[in-house]
Amino acid sequence: MQQKKVHIMTFGCQMNVSDSEKIVALLRTIDYESVPSIAEADLVIVNTCSVRAKAEERIYGILLTMKGELKRRPNLLIGVGGCVAQQEGARLLQKIPHLSFVFGTHNLHLLPQMVRQAEAGKRTSETAFIDDDSRFDLFPDYDGGSGITRAVTIMQGCDNYCSYCIVPYVRGREVSRQKADILEEIRKAAAAGVKEVTLLGQNVNSYGTRGGGGADFAGLIRDVAKIAGIKRIRFMTSHPKDMSAPLMECYADVEKLCSHIHLPVQSGSNRILELMNRGYTRSAYIAKIEQLKSIRPDILVTSDIIVGFPGETDEDFQESLSLMSEVGYADTYSFVYSPRPETKAATLPDTTSKVEKSERLKRLFALQKSLTRSLQSDYVGRCLEVLVEGVGKKEGQIYGRTSGNRTVNFSGSSALIGTLQRPRIIKNLQNSLLGELE
Ligand code: 5AD
Ligand code: SF4
Repeated sequence: MQQKKVHIMTFGCQMNVSDSEKIVALLRTIDYESVPSIAEADLVIVNTCSVRAKAEERIYGILLTMKGELKRRPNLLIGVGGCVAQQEGARLLQKIPHLSFVFGTHNLHLLPQMVRQAEAGKRTSETAFIDDDSRFDLFPDYDGGSGITRAVTIMQGCDNYCSYCIVPYVRGREVSRQKADILEEIRKAAAAGVKEVTLLGQNVNSYGTRGGGGADFAGLIRDVAKIAGIKRIRFMTSHPKDMSAPLMECYADVEKLCSHIHLPVQSGSNRILELMNRGYTRSAYIAKIEQLKSIRPDILVTSDIIVGFPGETDEDFQESLSLMSEVGYADTYSFVYSPRPETKAATLPDTTSKVEKSERLKRLFALQKSLTRSLQSDYVGRCLEVLVEGVGKKEGQIYGRTSGNRTVNFSGSSALIGTLQRPRIIKNLQNSLLGELE
């Protein structure tokens, strides 16, 4: 049979990026190869995000524009997966008549048969959840390769039900993957040349709570660190309330564990944290950061912050600003609150004007810019260890990241890709650093 071509469009978080990789592997089993443009494709798959309304609206926009492509090529198949697919299910097929199939976040493994049905003219939708760790066994084994860094899924789903968040509804209950399978995948990755792994999940530091064969996150990190060839370990995303003592201890003696943690705080106001159902107070959060800094003085902390949560007053907002300065974040990803279907916060009265919300967002950006500037300026003149990941945008340059996750560009040969280097930082470029090898 002639090989067919699929083009995958991926939106949203790292989990979707990782799912898209699995989709490629699954479709290879029915002779589809991945291509970089719609124009070459027989099948387009849109892997969607619904964490905020804007992300969702963008997907509908993209699906609409594909109508034009379908006019030119009526045989083109279009499938939708990811969080919007999970949320809307078969309703999407009704809303968008030119869609061929819809698959939810736990249904990737059904794709080969769904594509075959689509080829035969049958439209399908599959969105059932699989609530145990058998979900992880439904994909072809990772076959090695692909770069210097690699994200490895260790758990999926979330049971936290933060009041603003749609993730528990579209990704399902929290389930951890068996430790032996994770270690096997990382061994294979190391053998294929991967030097840095990011342990991936919605809430990685509660790894092992359900599924995973009784393993715990700190133990997993320690076992990953024993794998020869792996030079660096990162993880994403962790929840402040699950930042356990054993995990903190890893920062004391696991050298491969990078000096960076993304620990989303969401708000600096205790009143808002409570309404968000985050399960910690401002002072408990700060105490954990201080403990981490005492164990690993060079650790860089990044965060997510939501502005304009229902009822957020200017005082509440000031608390977010002051917390940002107190922690001294290296980066924050800030968002205007977006009401999401099914979530508790969507029922709360929201009295803050749109203008005020975007004003607050601007103030967060400005403060973060100055925090990042002062932090990065301190690096100028120092030599930092960088894992070289690839060739830079400028001729003759290579780039990589520091242990603290700051990007550094510097002149050097592509033969250095995959090695650790210690360029001296010569300039702070705000979004990155410029270095030179001595
Ligand atoms: N509105 C705005 N931001 C949100 N996030 C999650 N849900 C919402 C929402 N309804 C943000 C949180 C989370 C990040 C991935 O997205 O800050 O940490
Ligand atoms: Fe959403 Fe909260 Fe779960 Fe993160 S921890 S995915 S914000 S519900």
